[in-house]
Amino acid sequence: MSDNKIVFEHAVTTFTHERWDADGQDAPFALEALEEGKILFFPHLSFSLTADEIALLDPTLVDPKRKNISFQPLKNRLTGVAATERIPTVRHLLERYYQDCCRLAAAILPLYRQTLHSPANTLRLHPITAWTNTTSWRKDDSRLHVDAFPSRPTHGQRILRIFTNINPNGENRSWRVGEPFPQLAQRFLPNLGRYSPLNSWLLNKMGITKTRRSHYDHLMLQLHDAMKSDRDYQQYGPQLAVDFPPGSSWICFSDQAPHAAMNGQFMLEQTFFLPPEAMKNPRRAPVKVLESLLHKPLI
Ligand SMILES: [Fe+2]
Repeated sequence: MSDNKIVFEHAVTTFTHERWDADGQDAPFALEALEEGKILFFPHLSFSLTADEIALLDPTLVDPKRKNISFQPLKNRLTGVAATERIPTVRHLLERYYQDCCRLAAAILPLYRQTLHSPANTLRLHPITAWTNTTSWRKDDSRLHVDAFPSRPTHGQRILRIFTNINPNGENRSWRVGEPFPQLAQRFLPNLGRYSPLNSWLLNKMGITKTRRSHYDHLMLQLHDAMKSDRDYQQYGPQLAVDFPPGSSWICFSDQAPHAAMNGQFMLEQTFFLPPEAMKNPRRAPVKVLESLLHKPLI
């Protein structure tokens, strides 16, 4: 399937930064690549852990009812820690990671400085294989997908994610990445189910969604499911394997760049949301791509 192989440079742009408070000379280049849907890869941007923090790298620290440990820095809200005596160390680690991610975003994505919002991050301690063997296809993130949240509609807000591999045993975080979003949307759009405003209203009334699911949110969820349930697409669709070694970081718009997590353990992940109109080129936002293909507003 050589014609379905994606060229590395078409999907990933590499940067040499070693510091989170990097200088911003690459900023225009980084912004352009990110908004195109590429992954910004920082092979030398590590996040150092103290000895106390290295001791946190143990899956039993995660509450068995949750997938990851999560932190909302603006609310100082930490969830998912099974051992209460470790809470201060985990909180400090996730606060530090948030601060470093803010520094990096300010340096290389200064256009977004005023508009990135609702930060939340996770400490991911389970090996990816723990999920792929036990979850339903819909929750199986080792299948290529774009991010869409069933209970949390985004109404077109962009999902910007920063990741850092903190594996202490030399293990890569291995992903597959997929085709550009406009190509992906054209491929799947004809087969996505119809939107029902009544159904969205009901889901919200019943508390299944936090806000009303817009037509856009409906399409993104349908796209997420259509990709994951298509075995041929998973096996033969356009894709490229990319390894992120320990001590590296990477950034993408995860609502735009198809991705699949194949292997690895121990990672930090920082999420921000961004209004599409805050982009340099809002037409690249998934909501705008879908609206132009369907010739109608979706929010
Ligand atoms: Fe994802």
